[in-house]
Amino acid sequence: MSGTIRVPGDKSISHRSLILASLADGESRIRGILDSEDVRATAEALRSLGTAIPSLAKEMGVRGAGLRGLRPPRQALDCSNSGTTTRLLAGVVAANPFSARFEGDASLSKRPMKRVAEPLTYMGAQFDFEHGDGLPMTVRGADLRSIDWDTQASSAQVKSAILLAGLVAGVEVRVTEKSPSRDHTERMLSAMGADVEIDRNQICLRPVRRLAPIEMNVPADPSSAAFFVALASLAVEGELTLTDVLLNPTRTGFLEAMTRMGAHVDKAASASSGGEEIGSLRVRSSRLRSTRITEAEVPALIDELPLLACVAAGAGVELEITGAAELRVKESDRINAVVQNLRAVGADAEELPDGLRVRASRRELAGTIDPRGDHRIAMAFGILSAASGNHITVTNPECVAVSYPRFWEDLRRVTA
Ligand code: S3P
Repeated sequence: MSGTIRVPGDKSISHRSLILASLADGESRIRGILDSEDVRATAEALRSLGTAIPSLAKEMGVRGAGLRGLRPPRQALDCSNSGTTTRLLAGVVAANPFSARFEGDASLSKRPMKRVAEPLTYMGAQFDFEHGDGLPMTVRGADLRSIDWDTQASSAQVKSAILLAGLVAGVEVRVTEKSPSRDHTERMLSAMGADVEIDRNQICLRPVRRLAPIEMNVPADPSSAAFFVALASLAVEGELTLTDVLLNPTRTGFLEAMTRMGAHVDKAASASSGGEEIGSLRVRSSRLRSTRITEAEVPALIDELPLLACVAAGAGVELEITGAAELRVKESDRINAVVQNLRAVGADAEELPDGLRVRASRRELAGTIDPRGDHRIAMAFGILSAASGNHITVTNPECVAVSYPRFWEDLRRVTA
C-alpha cells in the first residue's frame, strides 16, 4: 500500500459555502466544492429559494441574493439524506417572511428536529410537524427576536441554525455550547465581514447590513481523509500521504486519538483559506494500542467514531467509547450498526447506552455487513476489509455517494 491521495472537499464547508454565498451581496468564488448527494441537496434547496446556483463544479461562481433576497419556494425542499441541509436551512427560512416545507429520505425523516425547532420557535418562527419531531416539517418564518441560547449539547448544526437565523433577521444571537463543536460557520462569517465574537464555548453574532462575498478554496475533508489514515495505520507496511487536508482543531480529534493509540501521523501545515488551516498528513503503518474516548473528546471526532471502532477491531486492541449517545441519531443508529456489523464479521463488541466497547481479539474478520444506507458505516467496514487478512463484503456500497462518491475507486488505487 502506498500513494498520495487528495480526498474530496470538506462536506461541512461545502454546505456552508453555498448557503453563505447565497446570502452575500455580490459574487463569491468557490473552488474544490464537494460534489456529493448531500451538497447537491443544499444546492437544489437554495435554487428553490431563488438563488442562481450553477451545477457543482471544480470552480464556480455564486451570485448572492443578499441577506433578504430569498424567495418563497414553489415546492417542498428535498433535503434527501442531509441533516446539515435541513437544520441550517431551517435557520435561514425561520428569518424570512415565508414558509417552506422540508422533506427527506427515510433515514433523515427519523432524525430529531426539535433541537432546532426549539430555539427558532423561541425566536418567533413556527414549526409544524406531521409526526413526532421528524420530517416532513413546515417552517413558518417571522420577524425574529434576539436569543441567548444554551444548547446543553455540542451541535454545530444547532449552533449554525441559530447564527444563520440571527444573521438574516438582523438581531443579535448568542449561543453557548457544552464543549466547542466545529466552527466553520463562525470562521466563514468572520471572513465575510460579519461581527462574530467567540469566547471559549460562547459565540455572539451581532447584526450586519450586508455580507461580503467570499473566495473559498474548500480543503480536503478530514472525515474522508480519516479512512486512509486508518488504512495506512492498519497496513502491514507502506505509507500514505494525504494532501490539502483541513486541520481545523474542532475536526482533528480522530488524529489525536490515533496518535494516542500509537499511529505514526506526521502533520505539515501548508496554507490557510477562508479562515481555515490546511496541511498534509504522512501516515505509516504502526502497532496500535488500546484507548478510551470520553464525552469531552466526542465533538471533535463524532463522525469518525464508527471508523475508530473498526480500527480497534482490525488492530485487535480494546476501545471504549462513552458520552456519545448522539451517535444513535445520525444517518443510522451508529452504535447499534457498528456493534451488530462488527459481531457479524466475528469481532467482540458490545453496545453501551451512550457508546460501545470493542474487546481485543486476534481473529481474522470475515463476513457480510449491512451499512443500513449509512455512508460512514460502509466506508469504515470497507477499510476494515482492505486491512490485511479480512474478507468483508459490504452490501449497498453505493451509499458512499452522500459524502465521498469515488471512495471505492480511491481505495482500490492505493491498495492495488
Ligand atoms: C455537521 C455537524 C455534525 C456532524 C455532521 C456535520 C455540520 O452534526 O456530525 O456530519 O456540518 O454542521 P451535529 O451538529 O448534529 O453534531
